[in-house]
Amino acid sequence: MIRTRVEQTSEMEHSSPVFLTSSFNFDNAEEMRAAFADETDDNIYSRFSNPSVQEFIDRMCVLEGVESGFATASGMSAVFAAMLSFLKKGDHLISCNAIFGSTHTVITKILPNYGIEFTYVPANNPETWQAAIRKNTKMIFLETPTNPGLDLIDLQYVGELARKNNIIFCVDNCFATPIGQLPAEFGADLIVHSATKWLDGQGRVLGGIVLGKKKLIHDIYLFCRSTGPALSPFNAWILSRSLETLEVRMERHVSNAFYLAQQLQQHPAISWLKYPFLESHPQYQIAKKQMKNGGGLICFDLKGGLESGRRFLDQLKMISRTANLGDTRSIASHPASTTHAKLTEEERMAVNISPGLIRISCGLEHREDILQDIVQAL
Ligand SMILES: Cc1ncc(COP(=O)(O)O)c(C=O)c1O
Repeated sequence: MIRTRVEQTSEMEHSSPVFLTSSFNFDNAEEMRAAFADETDDNIYSRFSNPSVQEFIDRMCVLEGVESGFATASGMSAVFAAMLSFLKKGDHLISCNAIFGSTHTVITKILPNYGIEFTYVPANNPETWQAAIRKNTKMIFLETPTNPGLDLIDLQYVGELARKNNIIFCVDNCFATPIGQLPAEFGADLIVHSATKWLDGQGRVLGGIVLGKKKLIHDIYLFCRSTGPALSPFNAWILSRSLETLEVRMERHVSNAFYLAQQLQQHPAISWLKYPFLESHPQYQIAKKQMKNGGGLICFDLKGGLESGRRFLDQLKMISRTANLGDTRSIASHPASTTHAKLTEEERMAVNISPGLIRISCGLEHREDILQDIVQAL
């Protein structure tokens, strides 16, 4: 049970209050001076810190097993802050090539504007990580499982490589959640999350967080305090309540996903299906080494390609067609015609996005209802 919470007020409320305030008062000039001089950790202004936001951070620190964190307005502001707090002109970043679309845009279109170089390495070929390291490599960034293809990267291998070469190792742990995987145990210096997904779990609010050692997070705090991607206290309050049910929700999401993967893998309309905890997953051994469960997502390839993917979405009766994941309700997406439609077919295939690829975020519904809807749409 996570015990961290904001202090109880004299009203003796059971649920923590939400601190919807832009700024905080001081009793006198000396206290205000000391807070601004960083001699105390009093709250000054909600762009810097806020008790409701701190409650969410404290709970996430417990879950990820790290010292410190800074919460942001979205997952992308967490990714951007993690990169821009440390990378400067002339630095080099290594990232896996299968990566969330907006992170891909940041790496390939925005970082180069600041003179920051990058190298993409294939998620499923670890030897190439070593070869990509240069004298100016400052950060390794990766997602595992990857979005949307559910490829896995050996965290221990990359963690050791980063440590030996004095490189900051940053992991986007959005897909696995801290219930499924703890990157800090494998040497990750920074962990980022889109809290918008499983952490909220009900498709209500945007949020993000960067977690890690105190010293690194202090640099992120200084970057964000001035650039302003602060998490709303109201969203933080929602997210803290959501964390109280994260473990039980994930148990059901995961058991539904595992059941669907087992039932669907031999279906005649499907050419392959990937789920980290199925023995048929190409990196099953890595999954068993670093994941506590296989997660709440499955993906499969429809034999009929692009048109079958579009038809499948149209046929669904219960499962939602929406651009999110990690909700109580199951969600289907067809990356080739939506999120990754702007890529060429070669670019898509390089990151294992086949024309008929379907990603299912398994909800909390009865597993037979989800299975029935998928089967009737195939
Ligand atoms: C793996 C991953 N990282 C980051 C993000 C970005 O998060 P947000 O939409 O909260 O900005 C997403 C969003 O889908 C994601 O899937």
